[in-house]
Amino acid sequence: MTEMIYETVITTLNSDGTAHIAPFGVRERDGHIIVAPFRPSASLDNMLRARCAVINLTDDVRIFAGALTGRRDWPTFPATRIAGHVLESALAHRELELIAVKDDNTRPELTFRVAHEITHRPFRGFNRAQAAVLEAAVLVSRLHMLPPEKVAAEIAYLNIAIEKTAGERERQAWAWLMERIENHNAELRGDNLA
Ligand SMILES: Cc1cc2nc3c(=O)[nH]c(=O)nc-3n(C[C@H](O)[C@H](O)[C@H](O)COP(=O)(O)O)c2cc1C
Repeated sequence: MTEMIYETVITTLNSDGTAHIAPFGVRERDGHIIVAPFRPSASLDNMLRARCAVINLTDDVRIFAGALTGRRDWPTFPATRIAGHVLESALAHRELELIAVKDDNTRPELTFRVAHEITHRPFRGFNRAQAAVLEAAVLVSRLHMLPPEKVAAEIAYLNIAIEKTAGERERQAWAWLMERIENHNAELRGDNLA
């Protein structure tokens, strides 16, 4: 059976105790949480060293778009049971303790036990613009592998959901991603001229 992947924001502890914030898809298996970061990853280093992490379930898609465009400074508060940081925008969060590591040179698999779980606000329903921002964020993370025409066609489709259903946060996140794509395209044009 295919395991569902949930797009979350993981906060980990830097060695100086500050928060490191990065989006990761996570899976659930037998009540445990599986995280599989590609090397190299600051989050991976932090999780292996501190042996804990927080998964934040947030509908603030600026954090996903921000991670890909150099904006990683979001407000947090201390976790309850583990040494860690929780995003203020989390609708819910889970505090995790590392229990197993399947090492791999490319993509190790980390298994966590849920030590604590809190719901802060209710889920308000699906929003198409939020989904569109996530899809655009994934495209942006793969710009170096995708032909510009394919990116342009997919963005044109996703933009319909932005136009129809976005709020302020979604528009902001979308603008950051579009700026990143424009810069990438400008670099490609520059390369062609050189
Ligand atoms: C929606 C979304 C899901 C992601 N899921 C993963 C993942 O499962 N594994 C991974 O290595 N990177 C994933 N990424 C990319 C990481 O967030 C990105 O590489 C980040 O910089 C992690 O590196 P760091 O730990 O060094 O900060 C995802 C990005 C987005 C936008």
